[in-house]
Amino acid sequence: MTDTATLTWQPTVAPSDLEQYGVAQAVVGGLKVALYAVEGDYYATADLCTHGAASLADGYLDGDLIECPLHQGVFNVKTGEAVGAPCTVAVRTFPVKLQDGLLHVGVEA
Ligand code: FES
Repeated sequence: MTDTATLTWQPTVAPSDLEQYGVAQAVVGGLKVALYAVEGDYYATADLCTHGAASLADGYLDGDLIECPLHQGVFNVKTGEAVGAPCTVAVRTFPVKLQDGLLHVGVEA
């Protein structure tokens, strides 16, 4: 677990941007991330699927699982764990907090 005191919090999207699909893409420090809304909480992972060149933000969110749009691999957005073939490598996760009406993603300074 990353010590949140060493993180830089980067503003991204508003929670309302997640209302339609439950997922949206943002760029944090040059890195594309996917943000997710799950039962009133927010999560973030790297946007790039670990199996290929696909954006998880273009995937289908079902509960806390995101299905990749390219080969339908599945990740748990809370843990990053790959839980559905063909994905076997976890996707990186990032802490998220709501501040001043925007979701902020924590990245190491
Ligand atoms: Fe995501 Fe293949 S690129 S499952």
